[in-house]
Amino acid sequence: MSVKTPENMGPVDELKRSLLKKTSVFLGALGLAGIGVPLLSYLSPNRSTREAGKPISVDVSGMKIGEQKTVLWRSKPVWIIRRSEAMLASLGLVDGKLKDPDSDVAQQPVYARNEARSIRPDFLVLLGICTHLGCSPTYRPDPKSVDDTWAGGFYCSCHGSKFDLAGRVFKNMPAPSNLEVPPYHFSDENTLVIGDGGA
Ligand code: FES
Repeated sequence: MSVKTPENMGPVDELKRSLLKKTSVFLGALGLAGIGVPLLSYLSPNRSTREAGKPISVDVSGMKIGEQKTVLWRSKPVWIIRRSEAMLASLGLVDGKLKDPDSDVAQQPVYARNEARSIRPDFLVLLGICTHLGCSPTYRPDPKSVDDTWAGGFYCSCHGSKFDLAGRVFKNMPAPSNLEVPPYHFSDENTLVIGDGGA
């Protein structure tokens, strides 16, 4: 039996070999594309995920003093509260009773690291999620509406955590830290952009 070597191969065999090679390359590329496309779509977030992560704009022009508005950002509740002068004055009265009055624990952007924990004192923006186990506290702005010393704030009925009107937690509460301030900025006088800390 004669063994075929490159030297004794005829022109037909050469043609077959070249065709076979091209077909294998083509099928290989097709296979890679077949794996690559689903892999890429798996790795890149789908449109609704991308949309959900985007900053949101909120018109605050119609908000009354003392009003609370809740919006959803990244599927989390974000509170916007328009504070009165009296509400802001109450912040100075409770400093000695707070766990972290100066917001030393960094759960807010630097521009909100002040007594009012906000860019503009009249507008408070907070994630409405208790830092203990994630319940959503309720807004209780009226003095004495929770206890006799209550000056207004947020009350988490799950395990009794209390926060002042800047979201600062009182001492000896189950919640370990102040309520979180999300990134935000005002794009104009009446428009709040949540999810983007601005320039
Ligand atoms: S979840 Fe708010 S006090 Fe426990």
